Amino acid sequence: EQSGRLVVVSNRVGPLSDEGKAGGLAVGLADALRRRGGLWFGWSGEISDAGSSSELKTETHGSTSLVTIDLTQDEIDGFYFGYANRSLWPLLHYRLDIASFERSSDRVYRAVNRRFAERLAPQLEADDLVWIHDYHFFYMGSELRRASYDGRLGYFLHIPFCPPEMLTALPASHDLVRALLDYDVVGFQTEGDRRNFVAFCVQELGAEDVDGDRVRTSDGRVVRASAFPIGIDAEGFAEFATSEEAREHEAMVNDISRGRHQIVGVDRMDYSKGIVERFRGFEQLLEDHPEERGQVQFLQVAPLSRSELEAYVDLRNELEGLAGNINGRFATLDWNPIQILVNGFTRRALAGIYRAAQVCMVTPLRDGMNLVAKEFIAAQDPADPGVLILSRFAGARAELPEALIINPYSTDDVTRALLQALKMPLEERQRRHAAMRERVFRNTAQNWCETFLAVLDAPAERDLQPR
Ligand code: G6P
Repeated sequence: EQSGRLVVVSNRVGPLSDEGKAGGLAVGLADALRRRGGLWFGWSGEISDAGSSSELKTETHGSTSLVTIDLTQDEIDGFYFGYANRSLWPLLHYRLDIASFERSSDRVYRAVNRRFAERLAPQLEADDLVWIHDYHFFYMGSELRRASYDGRLGYFLHIPFCPPEMLTALPASHDLVRALLDYDVVGFQTEGDRRNFVAFCVQELGAEDVDGDRVRTSDGRVVRASAFPIGIDAEGFAEFATSEEAREHEAMVNDISRGRHQIVGVDRMDYSKGIVERFRGFEQLLEDHPEERGQVQFLQVAPLSRSELEAYVDLRNELEGLAGNINGRFATLDWNPIQILVNGFTRRALAGIYRAAQVCMVTPLRDGMNLVAKEFIAAQDPADPGVLILSRFAGARAELPEALIINPYSTDDVTRALLQALKMPLEERQRRHAAMRERVFRNTAQNWCETFLAVLDAPAERDLQPR
């Protein structure tokens, strides 16, 4: 029996149409929503005095609706900037050193989760599949249960799950992880993330690791916990790469680089992305290999993100300082080695920039998956593809082992990989690219969505247990 509608919850919602603006995730979810009908629920992006008590805003496209609510300034401060992005984001990315924990943001975070659940519950039907996304909504499942929703509940964490030895530093870590055990299915990007989660459940919550894919809680319920590595809309992105807008941007980059090797990096400006380490590797390349001076050019696209937070302001200053130093040391009358752009580009323009590059550096210190790596592969011309340099700490590494895999903390490693990439013969580039392309086109955002939903839709884990 085909189950009911799909209900998706995430902090940022949509777009449902305008594929030019949508990332892989939005494309995958929008597809699934269109097929099953349903709704996508989340924050409107607006701040108002009524906040999460305000009117629901509904935008309908065919069988699918976007339903959103506002937040108050206090809710944004405690829930989004505070708990989600000052506590959970750094901690889950293994940055206990910069995580901060405040009782008041924990309280607001839980209150916003509850409020969202209370607003969503009346919209739900018994046979809906409810799918909650990411670190903004750990408690949403428990709160929906409390609001008497009894149907299928799935959760997917888009970012890493750090080891229990680190996560236990979070004052309410037991509450947070126990809340995940209220879902029927909990999904992670990689096996490593799943293992960390199961280890926490076993070591801290007295749960039992049943068979690698299941956890039995201390009160006997069974929860499915698996890795579902996310993909991109590979076909769509490859098409973007040959669109007119892409060609214009490709030509612009080529104009500026004038036959020099073009290296690119594309990341939200975030300290998890290893951009500082990447710049150091590039600087060392110029330092140790004078023959490369004037021959290479590095473009870093880094749209600003969460700029109200100090860690992000500090990062921007550090990166601009580093880029300035590199240009100061090496620039000549007709060559600026490094350029950093903090504005965003449309997805078509980005695809063109990827296509103009001989090398793409994806060097996060920790990353759930990293879709830039996959988009770069999808955007290349298979006859003359660029080279991907990829951090061993990105989830994408598992599916892209033919990239040049580096340890971003090792400047030597980064420099060596750059040199190898710049000198790689065509035949080797084609071989590596073809292997990766095949996987990027196989495990798409659409497949990821359907795989997760098939598991969520299977006879509920809780129905299989002896009662
Ligand atoms: C990561 C998170 C997403 C988030 C995005 C942009 O990819 O996993 O949940 O939406 O960053 O960050 P922002 O704070 O601007 O939503």
